[in-house]
Amino acid sequence: MFRTKLKNASIAITFNDLVLLPGFTRSEPNEIDLTTYFSKNIKLKIPFSSAPMDTVTGSELAIALALQGGIGILHRNCSAENEVEMAKKVKRAGSYIIRDVLTISPNQTIEEAITLMTRHNIHGLPVVDKDKMLIGIITWRDVRFTARDQFVKNVMTPREKIISANDGITVEKAKRILQEHRIEKLPIVDSNGRLLGLITYRDLRMQEKYPNSIRDEEGRLRVGAAISPFDLRRAKMLEPFVDVLVIDVAHAHNANVISAVKRIIEEVSVDVVVGNIGTYEAAEDYITKIDDVAGFRVGLGSGSICTTTVITRAFAPTLFATVNVADAVNDYKVRLPVIADGGIRTPGDIALALALGASAVMMGNIFAGCKESLSKLVSIGGVFYKEYYGMGSARAKAKRAALDRYSIPSKDIVEGVEGLVPYRGGVEDVVREFVAGLKAAMGYAGANNIRDMWEKARVAFVTPLGLNESKPHDIIIPQQKMSWGY
Ligand code: XMP
Repeated sequence: MFRTKLKNASIAITFNDLVLLPGFTRSEPNEIDLTTYFSKNIKLKIPFSSAPMDTVTGSELAIALALQGGIGILHRNCSAENEVEMAKKVKRAGSYIIRDVLTISPNQTIEEAITLMTRHNIHGLPVVDKDKMLIGIITWRDVRFTARDQFVKNVMTPREKIISANDGITVEKAKRILQEHRIEKLPIVDSNGRLLGLITYRDLRMQEKYPNSIRDEEGRLRVGAAISPFDLRRAKMLEPFVDVLVIDVAHAHNANVISAVKRIIEEVSVDVVVGNIGTYEAAEDYITKIDDVAGFRVGLGSGSICTTTVITRAFAPTLFATVNVADAVNDYKVRLPVIADGGIRTPGDIALALALGASAVMMGNIFAGCKESLSKLVSIGGVFYKEYYGMGSARAKAKRAALDRYSIPSKDIVEGVEGLVPYRGGVEDVVREFVAGLKAAMGYAGANNIRDMWEKARVAFVTPLGLNESKPHDIIIPQQKMSWGY
């Protein structure tokens, strides 16, 4: 029996085991289409998502990534209120019409107006009465040289001088009004003058500057949020402000998790992605036991900060998990996106994941190094780094909200490390590098799009000696140039 078990042992392939074989192509890398799905209903322009970790994804990174066509998944190592606040911030940024407008009342002080504008990094506030009727606007220009204890009503631009518009106004018309009147903000009001939304020049410009950005039906940037499967309250609180919820547990193939996920899916109307899982059987159980799972986040133990495998020997490397879950998805004909999570270092790793059935990847390490990540910038000997730690590390576990991911009482161990990653610059530059690398890889593989990667791209095993030859060798490289080290 045990000899059979050993004989039937699978090979837990990882990124370093495989290479992408060149395939015939007629197109150039700039003709390659990276459009894909993160979940059943959430389309992306590039197959990248950021990990829900408290050194990685807050609103700033989520905004930057959505502007590039990917999606940020907000971390949950905080109160539900904080997570909702992060989501709202993304939804307010760069949208065509801000619906959840920050307002102030006429009897508040200039001090309060300044605090609100500073905290939310905005330049003006509509002034409304208790019935939400628009009665003025106050901007930085009005408050800059005004006594802090003055009332807003004495300083604001009054209603009769405000240009406003009704709901349903087109982008072009709004732009024309803003330009003609040389104003920055256009409040949207109903026929009684009640405030319904706000269009700002800054947001309209952002739309032009980032044509690849991914947006919901109202023109707001898309964002996802991580939740515990046992936290229905948080799921319900986040639901109105996110496009997708991501179940965030280290081992989702667990009876309690499955029933909790079922309940969450029944209670919310946004897409719910389940993870992490690492085997065909785990995907099969979810597919057969729950209707309406919207995608799978796969891979266990491959993350750059993981010590799960060191400690427990449990491992479903990202590529292995991808192949197995993608096959289950295909066998059951459910067309659910598979998100390869953990261990991504280069565009080539992403290409391998796509070649083996992934629709998108999730990256922690790469995005932690970006300017917009939540982690602290540190300088050592004149070189910049960003802090990065696992969500199962002692540091993350010290924050109580993380406890149910890696340290349910039976698991009194840490499963992640703390360290530093190189500072890589802004998300825009890092994504540009990765997109160029990925398109080049797809060009070699003979693929024009992600479906081609599934169907046409071929892979081969590489020997440990071959692996050495596949990197620069016999040369001294004095300076790191790209995200992947050369
Ligand atoms: P990368 O390689 O991008 O991986 O840094 C990010 C993914 O790693 C997972 N993660 C952990 N896994 N212990 C683990 O075993 C941890 O402390 C930990 N923290 C994060 C997670 O799936 C993330 O997306």
